[in-house]
Amino acid sequence: MKKIILSALVASATLIAADSAAVYKSGMLLPANGEAIYKKECIQCHAANGKQTSYTGSSRIKYAPINGLDAAKLAKELKDYRYGSVNKYGYGQLMKSTLIDLSYEEIDALAEYISTNIK
Ligand code: HEC
Repeated sequence: MKKIILSALVASATLIAADSAAVYKSGMLLPANGEAIYKKECIQCHAANGKQTSYTGSSRIKYAPINGLDAAKLAKELKDYRYGSVNKYGYGQLMKSTLIDLSYEEIDALAEYISTNIK
């Protein structure tokens, strides 16, 4: 009997582990936190004010400021980058690799945060 309970526990722990792989890596199972995600995943290339328009270390890679964008449009664009269907200047892959670990819920929270707080 003990053995059965133990293997059931191991099996469910494995399931939980497999499931959490799709959840935001630093905030597993916590409510989506747009500010934390922005500071961890976006700030190094877009700056705290969203006005950085070139990829750190490469003046060749240019993009538009991301401050003051509409939340719904931004969320859609980020989901498209995550999916891989946007590639405005040839560097969509950089965005995709950043967004691939975020759930849609986290992307919505992130877009809301940027739209309201990054002016
Ligand atoms: C490694 C650097 C890097 C990181 C990290 C990064 N970005 Fe980007 N971002 C880029 C590059 C490069 C582009 C241009 C992509 C292309 O060619 O379409 C871009 C484009 C964008 C655009 C479209 C800008 C335009 O010109 O219309 C938005 C919006 C954006 N990023 C938001 C974010 C958000 C939000 C995050 C955090 C989840 C993030 N980015 C993380 C480098 C980065």
